[in-house]
Amino acid sequence: MARAVLGIIGGSGLYDLPGLADAEWRTVASPFGTPSDQLRFGRIGETPIVFLPRHGRGHRMSPSDIDYRANIDALKRAGVTDLVSVSAVGSLREDLAPGSLVLVDQFIDRTVGRASSFFGAGCVAHVSMAHPIAPRLADRLAAAAEAEDIPVTRGGTYLVMEGPQFSSRAESELYRSWGAAVIGMTNMPEAKLAREAEIAYATVAMVTDYDCWHPDRDAVTVDQVVAVMGANRGKAQRLIARLAADFPAEHEPCPIGSDRALEHAVMTAPAA
Ligand code: ADE
Repeated sequence: MARAVLGIIGGSGLYDLPGLADAEWRTVASPFGTPSDQLRFGRIGETPIVFLPRHGRGHRMSPSDIDYRANIDALKRAGVTDLVSVSAVGSLREDLAPGSLVLVDQFIDRTVGRASSFFGAGCVAHVSMAHPIAPRLADRLAAAAEAEDIPVTRGGTYLVMEGPQFSSRAESELYRSWGAAVIGMTNMPEAKLAREAEIAYATVAMVTDYDCWHPDRDAVTVDQVVAVMGANRGKAQRLIARLAADFPAEHEPCPIGSDRALEHAVMTAPAA
């Protein structure tokens, strides 16, 4: 079995991981484009960690401008087997107040025009996205949260919008009527590409606001997102530190096969 390497993608407000031993930033090139930043290599305990700030240090890249293929490809080249996406989101449910953490289990992809596959042009593949989150990795995140006494909500659908503008109230109500729990701008095509790269993927969604549907709350602003993320960043960091400290040395096969996703996905006949 392969050595487990834990990848962390840090979203808005999470541009570094304190507590990484032997940490260094390293450039990893990808033929698919330019990753959002250098990768931060290090370890927590015995677990090798590769961290990538999704928007780049200093938050230079808009969700629509991120080269998700380059990011996932660079993480794959760095040996990442299991990937945790930490992402700021708006809440579409009363019970998910700002500051809550949600381990989402589904996505609705409303992004447009983002390069969303490594395949096409000569090699066609269709991976399953029926279960986009790797359940064992989510279980490990839930266990880490429990060990750290950090409340998390298990399950919920993350609606991925294109942005960069926030939603209109009518859109927000529409997504609520679809049963979505949270809304953000970044987890697609990231999750699809991780699946194509056979990397187990799970999301820790950090609720920063009530979007714009809530009758008693102001509509979301960047100031609010930054303030809530700043106040709750420590929780996400503690969660990751515990996950890493308890992580197995060997990569555990994913029960739904997300780490073997291409086995039954390629349509193109091998070259004669
Ligand atoms: N990220 C944080 N809050 C958000 C919201 N309300 N909509 C989209 N992305 C977000």
